[in-house]
Amino acid sequence: MPAIAVIGAQWGDEGKGKIIDLLAEKVNMVARFSGGNNAGHTVVNPHGEFRMHLVPSGIFYRHVTCIIGNGVVVDPAVLLEEIDQLKERGMAVDKLFVSDRAHLIMPYHILLDGLEEESRGGSAIGTTRKGIGPCYMDKAGRLGIRTGDLLQREPFLERLRSVLDYKNRILTRVYEAQPLSLEEIYDKYCRYGEQLAPFLRETDLMVEQALERGETVLLEGAQGTLLDIDFGTYPYVTSTSAMVGGACSGLGLSPVRIDRIYGVFKAYCTRVGSGPMPTELFDDTAELIRERAHEYGTTTGRPRRCGWFDAVVGRFSARINGFSGSCITRLDVLDVLPSLKICTGYRLNGETLTSPPSNSSLLARCEPLYEELPGWQSDTSGLRRFEDLPPQARSYVKRLEELTACPINIISVGPRREQTIVVREII
Ligand code: GDP
Ligand code: IMO
Ligand code: MG
Repeated sequence: MPAIAVIGAQWGDEGKGKIIDLLAEKVNMVARFSGGNNAGHTVVNPHGEFRMHLVPSGIFYRHVTCIIGNGVVVDPAVLLEEIDQLKERGMAVDKLFVSDRAHLIMPYHILLDGLEEESRGGSAIGTTRKGIGPCYMDKAGRLGIRTGDLLQREPFLERLRSVLDYKNRILTRVYEAQPLSLEEIYDKYCRYGEQLAPFLRETDLMVEQALERGETVLLEGAQGTLLDIDFGTYPYVTSTSAMVGGACSGLGLSPVRIDRIYGVFKAYCTRVGSGPMPTELFDDTAELIRERAHEYGTTTGRPRRCGWFDAVVGRFSARINGFSGSCITRLDVLDVLPSLKICTGYRLNGETLTSPPSNSSLLARCEPLYEELPGWQSDTSGLRRFEDLPPQARSYVKRLEELTACPINIISVGPRREQTIVVREII
């Protein structure tokens, strides 16, 4: 019966993949609703370690149907490769379905993502250069091509001809780049169409029918709330709705169907790419966290910027998503630190703020106000019960709970499925 959402509460890479893989055991369906292969969700389970870019992290259970919804932008080459790799590693993909309304990332999207970034110079967003922004621009601009379009060869050719004519004018006249060949793209994408055809469905109907049958559907968020196109640190955001609202339009799901919403928070903060991050550290602690936690992007390999937990951002995320509860990941990363800081407010122009300003240049000028808590300096990665955590670690997570005004359901103490402390069951 219920749809349950799992949403990134910070700047992405909070450990959504781990949490989805953990929860998926008890559900019937896992559905991705936004983003594309800018996402990189790491799953470490008895089958091995996997980096998922498009396929939902529920694929490791035989009984789970996996949906790539209409709100996702699909690079067919990446999806087909991911499917092949999963099959090679013994995973079944016969319950994986892709919306026939999902927009396709085309070669010009990838090219333009890079060219646009270069033309931004010092104010580059630091995108993943996977073509995400340009693809969503075309979706909104009504120039997009959708997965289902590939099955109607003649209309597809006509559409591609007119869109490519326009894109080639931009490529050659604005960026002085080489034009792309219609025949090459058409042939390539027709082949992708044949390969994708068995996966294409009206997935909104499948989600609805699953809920009607009384099944549990997990909604797998991508990116994070602070990268949301509306509520993130604009313009340093991704091009889609990463917060829970995106799940409705990105799957064709009524909001009344969403029963509960869980935010995934790292026990500290990271960010890849540009844009303000008030608690960012540039000292040995940042280096220690980065190396200890291997904070390098799953998709691009870029070093992640690291900093203290920002409860201003956390509270904001909890409010605009309406979190029912939270999952705190990577607590074990903090095991070695003698003391920890939590940002409880910002100082800007002599005033104290308890919510992030909507303007990025103002947010960049905010000075974090910290409270300091003692560290626990012992290994938590083997612990499985809240009561067994060192008292300082318990105080730390309790304080996160208070400051985000969001009850903690799960504490993660390692990348593996079983490295988890369940405080309150989610499912
Ligand atoms: P996602 O994009 O939100 O799914 O997160 P990523 O997979 O990009 O990044 C999270 C990283 O943290 C991955 O390498 C995970 O394997 C790892 N991870 C998840 N939970 C934990 C945890 O509790 N402790 C540690 N040490 N690593 C974790
Ligand atoms: P997951 O799902 C972290 C960031 C990029 C860049 C900005 C815009 O793994 O949490 P884009 O390519 O989307 O136009 O880039 O958004 N970004 C992510 N950062 N995790 C992600 O996904 C991200 N997806 C996009 O680094 O700053
Ligand atoms: Mg990631």
